[in-house]
Amino acid sequence: MGGAHAGITGARAHIKLATEQRGDEQALNKLVVRGGRPLVGRIRASGAKNSTLAILCACILTESEVILENVPNISDIRVMLEIISCLGLRAYWLDEDTLHITGAARVSGETPHELAKKLRASNLLLGPLMARKRRVRVSLPGGCNIGSRPMDLHFKGLNSLGADLDIRSGYIEGRVPGRLQGAKVYLDFPSVGATENLMMAAVLAEGQTVLENVAKEPEVVDLANFLNAMGAKIRGAGTDIIRVNGVPALGNPVRYSVIPDRIEAGTFMVAAAATGGDVTLERVIPPHLEPLSAKLREANVRVEEREDSIRVSTPAPLLPINIKTMPYPGFATDLQSQMMTLLSTVPGTSIIVENIFENRFQVAQELRRMGAQIEVEGRVAIIEGVPRLQGASVRATDLRAGAALVIAGLMAEGVTEVHNAHFVARGYRDFEARLNSLGADVERK
Ligand code: EPZ
Repeated sequence: MGGAHAGITGARAHIKLATEQRGDEQALNKLVVRGGRPLVGRIRASGAKNSTLAILCACILTESEVILENVPNISDIRVMLEIISCLGLRAYWLDEDTLHITGAARVSGETPHELAKKLRASNLLLGPLMARKRRVRVSLPGGCNIGSRPMDLHFKGLNSLGADLDIRSGYIEGRVPGRLQGAKVYLDFPSVGATENLMMAAVLAEGQTVLENVAKEPEVVDLANFLNAMGAKIRGAGTDIIRVNGVPALGNPVRYSVIPDRIEAGTFMVAAAATGGDVTLERVIPPHLEPLSAKLREANVRVEEREDSIRVSTPAPLLPINIKTMPYPGFATDLQSQMMTLLSTVPGTSIIVENIFENRFQVAQELRRMGAQIEVEGRVAIIEGVPRLQGASVRATDLRAGAALVIAGLMAEGVTEVHNAHFVARGYRDFEARLNSLGADVERK
């Protein structure tokens, strides 16, 4: 993105710019990693991708000005900016990680299909658009490699708030007779996206909405704090029950800073341990990383916490561990592939159970190409540690698997080529440059 006020003015112009950028990203689509170098040094965490995506959707609810700080300039965010620009909002980068967003008196109820269907998080447009429009047409985001990604919980909750929803030729078509009506909704599963969509839909609904068995991820709390800063009345985010008292409008201009990205920071922590390095992550919130820190300590990694930093080192041999992914505050599914990579050279048998997504072990077959011994049986992966991974040509299947394969390359003997590297750029800002600042040798080609 250009310098200050390199505005995202015309949606059309912006679409061209992002597509151009995407074109470049597709061209430079492999990362070449030379292994065997421990990561050493200090690195600052970026703002949370998954908070930012939800908060950008929440900007649809206001007509006021928003200054959003600590925004990661990654491709998923740039695509979401294009989408909300097409809906009528205006967004400028004020500097490399600060956005100026102006809400719109009138927003379009129809999302740009080609853009929205590629970005899973575009499903978070549904709630805020239904809060403002009587008729909406939101592209149904595709499933993706890690699972079918249904939206039944989103639809059930929005139906309870008075919305009628159909799926027709790749779109979600929604209708609301008047204003959404507050209701009590129980989520069969603490879905992050469903919690966020329903919270956003409820802030302008008539009366009180009670959401039960909700997701407690830090990104959900971040979204609730942002909405309250805009004038919403939300209580209980971070607990099992969220209460929302509807208000007629959100009118407060807001300056808000996004929380640090616990998944990006966790990825660097695992990379430090996997390469036998010594890395300090700065500008993090240690309690958000507790599930990972606890498992790393169990594996005999040294994890030292300060107020807003975490230092990871490996003074002693690592030990095999068992991991079960769970909704927060359980172990994050988004760090599962990275841990599988770390454990692939830990002597002994480690077991990972993936309870969140039905198809999130695809990285195992790529790690096997590098010499790992991993057996997958449904939701269970059994990892027998091998002495060393060997560099190979491998393929990323999603952004976290891509990051995990880069870690594997850092650990391996020889050179590893990670193809489909555009997945990595979706969630990790300047990934190769920041790894190289810690002593790695990674090149985008
Ligand atoms: C969010 O996805 C994150 N994405 C994901 O991060 C993360 O892996 C996931 O939460 C779990 O923590 C964003 O925040 C943009 P869910 P989301 O709804 O909201 C099932 C990354 O790498 N489900 O909590 O889509 C679903 O199929 C991404 O940054 C239903 O069955 O996750 C899955 O099995 C990947 N019906 C489980 O719940 C529904 O209506 C968890 O999904 C909704 C979800």
